[in-house]
This record gives sequence, C-alpha cells and structure tokens, in this order.
Amino acid sequence: QADDGYRLWLKYDLIKDAAKRDSYARSAQFIAVSSNGPILKSAAEELQTGLQGLLGKSVPVITNSNGKTGGITLSVTDAPTADGQSLNNEGYQIAKRQNTIVITSKSDAGALYGAFAFLRHLQTLQSIDAISVTSSPKVKYRMLNHWDNVNGTIERGYAGGSLWKWYELPETIDPRYKDYARANASLGINGTVVNNVNASARFMTNEYLQKVAALAKVFRPYGIRVYLSVYWAAPKTVGGLKTADPLDPEVRKWWTDKVKEIYQAIPDFGGLLVKANSEGEPGPQDYNRTHADGANMLAEAMKPYDGVVIWRAFVYKADPKADRFKAAYEEFTPLDGQFNKKVIVQVKNGPIDFQPREPFSPLFGNMLQTPLGMEFQITQEYLGFATHWVYEAPLFKECLDSDTYVKGKGSPSGAATVAKVVDGSLHGYPITAMAGVANTGSDRNWTGHPMAQANWYAFGRLAWDHTLSAEAIANEWVNMTLTHEPQAVKRITDLMLRSRDIYVDYNTPLGLSRPWAGVHFAPEPWQSKSPRPDWTAVYYHRADSAGVGFDRTATGSNALAQYRPEVQRQWSNAETCPLPYLLWFHHVPWTKKVSTGRTLWDELCTRFYTGADSVTWMQQQWAQVKPVVDPEIHADVTGRLANQHKEALWWRDAWVLYLQEYAKQPIPAPFKKPE
Ligand code: GCU
Repeated sequence: QADDGYRLWLKYDLIKDAAKRDSYARSAQFIAVSSNGPILKSAAEELQTGLQGLLGKSVPVITNSNGKTGGITLSVTDAPTADGQSLNNEGYQIAKRQNTIVITSKSDAGALYGAFAFLRHLQTLQSIDAISVTSSPKVKYRMLNHWDNVNGTIERGYAGGSLWKWYELPETIDPRYKDYARANASLGINGTVVNNVNASARFMTNEYLQKVAALAKVFRPYGIRVYLSVYWAAPKTVGGLKTADPLDPEVRKWWTDKVKEIYQAIPDFGGLLVKANSEGEPGPQDYNRTHADGANMLAEAMKPYDGVVIWRAFVYKADPKADRFKAAYEEFTPLDGQFNKKVIVQVKNGPIDFQPREPFSPLFGNMLQTPLGMEFQITQEYLGFATHWVYEAPLFKECLDSDTYVKGKGSPSGAATVAKVVDGSLHGYPITAMAGVANTGSDRNWTGHPMAQANWYAFGRLAWDHTLSAEAIANEWVNMTLTHEPQAVKRITDLMLRSRDIYVDYNTPLGLSRPWAGVHFAPEPWQSKSPRPDWTAVYYHRADSAGVGFDRTATGSNALAQYRPEVQRQWSNAETCPLPYLLWFHHVPWTKKVSTGRTLWDELCTRFYTGADSVTWMQQQWAQVKPVVDPEIHADVTGRLANQHKEALWWRDAWVLYLQEYAKQPIPAPFKKPE
C-alpha cells in the first residue's frame, strides 16, 4: 500500500521482526486505565491503535489489572515516583515493575504524553525489557501559531489551504481535526492559536467563537487548548466603539465582556495572541499608550480565568535611517517590569525576521522581569517554501544554545543560553512558552514537502525538551516515518543535518540577509523600490563598490551594543567575527582576506557555488535510499529536489551577477560564470 504521508510519524506499521514483536507483545497484553476521563481515554485509544498496528494484535483496555502482570498500566497519582525522580504536572515516568509497564504521571495529560513516548519507544525499535524513562516538559506553553485566515487561505502557508473549514464549522467536524490533535499531542504540544496574527476582527464575533469552540471540543481530549489572535481595533470594527484606546473605560469593558463571552463558549480557552503596532496593524501606540498598557488591559480582562496574554515583540518602524535590527529591543526593554503577570512577550528567534541564519535576538537576556516566549517559524517562508528540503532543528538549536552571557564574565560557558532564558530557569520566569508558526495545511501529507513534517516534529520535541539534539530528533523521525534500515537512516539523517547549511550557502551566505521582494521567494537582491525603505533588499545587504554587509558596530548602527560585552567581543571585530555572522555586523571590502584565506568575494562565490552543487549531493543521497523508502514519497521528494537544484542555481546566479557589478572581480576558478 502506497503511503501518501497522511499518517505522519504515527504510522504504526507492523514491525517486521517477529521476535521483536513477540517480545513487545509479552509486555502488552492489556492496557489498564482506572478512570475514563476524556484525556485518559485518548491515551488508551492511542495505545490500542498503536499496538494493533505495530504488533498486529488487538489489546484489550481494562479498568483494573487485578494483580495481573504483563500489561501496560496508566497510573495518575500525586504520590512521588518509585525512584524519587521528580515530575512536573505534565511529565511522565515509564518503568517496568513486576513484569508490568507502568506509566506514571500527575495528570491525565502526563499519561497521554507517556503513552505516546512508550509508542515512540516501540516505533524506534528500542528494547523495553528494562525501560526507564522520566521526562517533564521544560516549557509550560508549547504551541503552534497558525497564520490562517477567515477565507481559508494561510499567510506564508505552502501546503494548501487552511485545515480549518470555517464555512462548515461548527456543524461539520472534519475527522482530520482529531488527527491534527493526535499528532500534536504525540509531541507534547498543548496549545494552538488557530488564526493569523494579522487577525480578522471576525474571530471576536459570536459566530466565529462558536466555530472555534467546536475545534476546542475536538482538541480538548488531547490536552490541547485553543488560543486566538486578536485584532487590536476590534472594539471599533465589531464593537461599534469610537476608539480602541486601552485606557478608555468603554474599551476596557468591551474586552472584559468579550473575554467573558469567549470563556462561556470555551471554558478552557488558553489566551490571546497580539500583533500590535507592527507592519501597519493597529495598537495602543495609536493612542500614545505603550505595549504594556495594551497587554495589561487584556490581562485585566483575563483576570478571572486561567489564560494568558501573549504580546509579540515583532515591531519596527519605517525609518530609512534606523536599523530595524534594533527596534524590538528599543521598544521593549524600557517596559521591563511593567507587564501584568499574565503577560508573556513572544520574541522571534532573531532580531529581523526568520532569516535562514540570524544571530539570536538581543531581547533574550535583557528582559529579566518579563517572561519571554520563543517564536520560531516552522513554515519555510524564507527557507524555500515547500520545494526546498531544509531540516530546521539545527536552526532552532543554534538559537537555543546561544549564550547570552547575561550571567557575566567568568560564568561557565553555556550558563546563560537563550534556552535557559526561555525555560525560565535563568530569570525565574513564572510562565514559559515556545511557539512555532505552523507549516500545516490541507495537503494530504499536511506539510506540502513530505520532509517538512520533520520540522513540525522537531519543533514539538524541542518545545518539550530543548536539550535534545538535532541529530537524535532526526534519527527518531526517520525511523518512525521513513525506514528502519540502518544505512538509510544514517544517510537521510546526515542529509537532514547538512540541509540548512547548504541552503544558507546558496541563499544567504556569510550573514547576507533578505535578498527578496514580494512573496519572499524569488531572488531579487537588486530590489530598491518599495513603499517602505526597510522593505527593499538593498537596505539589508548594503552592497556598494567598497564592499558588502551591514555595519552594526560602533562605526555603524551600533546594534551590537544591545548585546552583553562577551557577545559583542565575539562579533565586533571583522577579523575574528565567525564567518556565518560576518555580514550581519560588518561592511567588508570585496578584496579583504577572510579566515579561510580567500578574499571576501572569492569566499562568497565559493559558498554560492558549492551550496548549489551540494543539492546534487542531496539528490544522490536520496537516490540511494530508494529501495527502502515508500515509492510515492520517494518520487515526490525526488521531484522536489530537482526543483530545489534548479532554484538553487537561480539564487546563486542572481546574487553572483548582481554583486559582481559592485565587486568588479572575476568569478574564481573553477567556477563558471553563469550564462
Ligand atoms: C513576516 C511575514 C508576515 C508576517 C510577519 C509577522 O514579516 O512576512 O507575513 O505577518 O512576519 O510575523 O507578523
């Protein structure tokens, strides 16, 4: 049976090795669950489905094992774990006791995550004879952000239309909603913002709240809470008020009533996500109020409920003289300490906008009193849409593992990583969050590019535990999704681990950024006209006859001053700045020798050419695994790689020919000038 990718990593195909199957089956003779709350029911049902597929055997669900052994018991209890290891509310422990697999947790959701973890163990063919796994999520709110619109389109979506069929809801429930919830729960994702940050006010109408409530009902048994993005001016557009000023009593009352109405429809509603005074969206600054005034007003409205306000820090003004890099820090650090305790400020990983490689945002480490949530982009807006194979875990990890040095000089390296800011351990944030802008859509395989499923997977796994390595996650995913054949697993994992650097090399090497206009796909480094100066390509790369790159040192915008001295030291000297960040911080002469011994121009050409060539290597690697990968998926990816190669050449040629006009240097041997 051909695989169309619908089942994602939850395939549960029969394990081929009969001995292995038997050994698993001996420990899976029943599933004991003492209560039948909806989340525990999902856990038992998933175990049953998984075991049926993997072992080819129907396993009964019972309420009490009555001393029988040889099965799986879900035990939700407040008692300490047998070995004294601590679990947080959503954590789980899987252990073998007297020939029984016991999945212990403090909450039903913990049991659900434990059930999925147990299945993952079987899906990756690990031994369960002495199974012992204890795991708790490091971040409290682990969520997807959908940029889905009322009309069924998705902003920056490359996998078809929206999963949410607004015109059919709430009466018709697409069975796919449940599979969406299962996939997320399998990773530990516990929240979903269902609509675009460029929000339509219609989501605040009762008509839409009923639709969203219907989704919430499907997600609830999977431990997933629903959130909504709000349009700041909704009190005007749908409320009929004259203002959306956060300090206006009528506006405050409107939001208080609205939030009450939301909770009536969705009692476990997760909270509100806000993009305000950003890219033309309205916000509190329209009334000379601050982001804190706005966020706190909503937090007040949320006071009676267990929900949060997530306020995005993605802001910048249309100022040709300013450096957009600095905007979020400038607007938000003065407000540190002023936010209500229900507010999380959500920060994109880098200071600009999800570029293929960015330094970490300088807000991390500089908001000691305000919980900062991480916002990653899973959808590949700047990473080649659905035609380029880019495994994003290395990008996520690079940011999470960056040291902010907020602990100061002399502290052990890694003591103050971005991950430790986000998980709250560094500044003692009371609430913590990690969000990924979803790459899901109505395509049968969910993500358009079948390999982009790995990015959804990796985001979820890292939101649960940011200490996992990109390699371990890839290995898991390949085993669960594509093949168990060890050589192929290794080949595909290696390919995945290199894919992001390959993309960066042909797309934006050495710290170039944002070479596109319009849809963020076609290379247009020459683009210089736009209604906003900071929406041109030339604003970012600053190529001229002297050199290329954005001077962000003291002689330029001095954005570097937003980082701690230790970080500044890494990047402030063009001689020692690591090459991946060079042009982020320096305007470098074309003929300047860089650390590889080549001139800047030669180094750029080398990256563009070897990057594009490496796609051929990817194609070769992929061709080798053909015998062990599902033919339909193999053919699909083969086609996409051919496309990627063609497009990599566009990128290379567009950049090289454009930059050459300034560099006035020949293309170094052995590379050939594009036709
Ligand atoms: C990017 C993206 C927009 C999006 C914005 C945001 O600029 O291109 O489509 O709305 O980010 O994150 O708000």
